[in-house]
Amino acid sequence: MIPIAKPYIGEEEKKAVLEVLESGMLAQGPRVAELEEKFSKYVGAGTVATSSGTTALHLSLLALGIGPGDEVITTPFTFFASASTIAMVGAKPVFADIQRDSFNIDPASVESLVTPRTKAIMPVHLFGLPADMDEIMRIAEDRGLYVIEDACQAHGAEYKGRKVGAIGDVGTFSLYPTKNMMAGEGGLVVSRNEDVLEKVKLLRDHGSPVRYKHTILGYNFRMSDIHAAIASVQLDRLDGFNRTRRENAAMLTRLVSGIEGLTPPSEKGDRVHVYHQYGLVVEDSYPLSRDGLVDHLRKNGIGARGSYPLPLYAQEVFRRIPFGGGVCPVCEEVLPRIIEMPIHPLVSKNDIRYMAEVLSSPP
Ligand SMILES: Cc1ncc(COP(=O)(O)O)c(C=O)c1O
Repeated sequence: MIPIAKPYIGEEEKKAVLEVLESGMLAQGPRVAELEEKFSKYVGAGTVATSSGTTALHLSLLALGIGPGDEVITTPFTFFASASTIAMVGAKPVFADIQRDSFNIDPASVESLVTPRTKAIMPVHLFGLPADMDEIMRIAEDRGLYVIEDACQAHGAEYKGRKVGAIGDVGTFSLYPTKNMMAGEGGLVVSRNEDVLEKVKLLRDHGSPVRYKHTILGYNFRMSDIHAAIASVQLDRLDGFNRTRRENAAMLTRLVSGIEGLTPPSEKGDRVHVYHQYGLVVEDSYPLSRDGLVDHLRKNGIGARGSYPLPLYAQEVFRRIPFGGGVCPVCEEVLPRIIEMPIHPLVSKNDIRYMAEVLSSPP
């Protein structure tokens, strides 16, 4: 089976972990500081490492002072953590509709949902394609809102020459094993605002500016040096990984473009898509349903899968927690049609040719 995702673990990653084990310093230490410095240079904004993308989002929201009574507008077509963290700080996730071609949040829908309680907009650069940041930043400036970029799927992606994550007030990345760069578990918060970074640092470590002194209630959301050592090697590989993902995606798009009923993902000219996922839309004119095509691909050894099964507002937990917005017709129409195809760096050009053949020969 060609897997949908597979972490690349080379000799350098193994060596880096061994060095940490031999150093005896296993918790947050010098390797975390080194990773923060390297990632800061890479994205062009200060970085604080955390234990996961989820804790990076959670601490970003807290550091901006978002809490009970506040609303945060985000997309319903994303991983659960984008919205669960909003609810966890006591705020209300408000779901805006998405664009059919990019799967990203639609700025016009965002604008229509702003209320006096809105505190922030959280665009997600879904599948590695940057959201419409100019429009989102314009709405935020006009209405006095924060922008939290959920870049958990978009390491190295660019919008008009700028790395995502460093465009809004704060940005977050995940280092989960399937991501474009990984550590096993881990997260990164980036910001150009020193006060936000200082607050995240404090919250990450029991609200403790110095040992055994606690000035606020904080968490243990630290990253270990073992994870930081892996992430640091992966960061050196990131541009190469992204190049291969983009080559694989471009080839698959070229090969499937002629197949009636399959719509390949859009590439917008002013941004760099890093293809965390390759989302193909199965239209009515294709001979199989989306799920029928997933079966066909899996029977032929291709680990494709449907994407997120529900808009987040339809998840049981969000039906119990009051949320704003509501019906997102574009999301509801396109979501059950999306298939994720493997294009990660360990997928070969022959694999891509084979996938296109299988897509073009439904039973
Ligand atoms: C869009 C998005 N946000 C947040 C997260 C949460 O990251 P983590 O799994 O590292 O907690 C993920 C990871 O799957 C994600 O894809």
